[in-house]
Amino acid sequence: MNRIFSGIQPTGNLHLGNYLGAIRNWVDLQGEYECLYCIVDLHAITVWQDPAELLASTREVTAGLIASGIDPEKNILFNQSQNPDHASLAWIFNCVARLGWLNRMTQFKEKAGKHRENASVGLYAYPNLMAADILAYKATHVPVGDDQKQHLELCRDIAQKFNSDFGVEYFPEVEPLILGPATRVMSLRDGRNKMSKSDPSEYSRITLTDGPDGIAQKIRKAKTDPDALPSEVKGLEDRPEATNLVGIYAALARKSREDVLAEVGGQQFSEFKGGLTELAVSVLGPIGEEMQRLVVDTDYIDGILRQGGTKARAISGPIMREIQEIVGFVQP
Ligand code: TYM
Repeated sequence: MNRIFSGIQPTGNLHLGNYLGAIRNWVDLQGEYECLYCIVDLHAITVWQDPAELLASTREVTAGLIASGIDPEKNILFNQSQNPDHASLAWIFNCVARLGWLNRMTQFKEKAGKHRENASVGLYAYPNLMAADILAYKATHVPVGDDQKQHLELCRDIAQKFNSDFGVEYFPEVEPLILGPATRVMSLRDGRNKMSKSDPSEYSRITLTDGPDGIAQKIRKAKTDPDALPSEVKGLEDRPEATNLVGIYAALARKSREDVLAEVGGQQFSEFKGGLTELAVSVLGPIGEEMQRLVVDTDYIDGILRQGGTKARAISGPIMREIQEIVGFVQP
């Protein structure tokens, strides 16, 4: 059976990139597959996290996923540390993956920056834990934004090497699902940089809790160029900010970029931004409100995560036992 696994870090506010690149696709896929959606607290601590903030962010992200339409009864929604199988399998993968493979990971290079010697060992081994997240459930499909592509290629390499080292056909070939017109949402301040939680400028990203005024202000201040919008996609060439805003509009409206440009071609940005604000408020406003309503009920949120953890362990447990047997461990 096809099984989906995907993860999101509980660090900072959920932003439009997370929503359009991942969360909304998770919502759309939930009827079609068995889905596990995981708040990856073990990944979060690869860089320093204040414990109280980590706890609050984990609950906030959970509330955000439910408010966006993930049904915690029909899917498995849990935080990673509830299931120790992730860490156990990650250790085995630490022994399968090669240093040379990890040295090529661009996200490690970006995150560690100039202070590589000072980065945690966990940050370096981060992609091995990601492979373990997915393969502990033998998941077949992984919906993510474009920035996770390289990590998923590594996951496939690890699965293949494990299978060939042990002479088994055990792990499936994992398929990334990179869907929709906004697989890489860019910063509102610079169309050449990815929208991210770590950008120091609040104006670079729209978050799910910004509310109508915040959304309007950020879109008003978003960087543009002086030309009117083109009526065809080829007119977006070398116009990163226009490309980004049109992509966001298309994704929010669930239309293609071609259809959007057929409608708005010729408009000045001032007019286009008005329409974009209205659209963004209509999609994100209700989610933000519901999220704020849910997040205060910590008993409810924690209960959902515990229930998800139980369901997740029930799937990974038998798989881990098979893996232990393949590797040659005496069964616990
Ligand atoms: P994270 O928390 O950085 O992001 C969560 C999801 O949001 C997507 N995303 C974006 N999509 C489009 N445009 C953007 N600007 C943008 N920013 C973020 C990400 O691609 C991701 O899908 N390593 C992962 C979490 C993870 C995971 C996994 C994912 C851990 N284990 C196993 C899949 C499978 C991460 O840090 O995502």
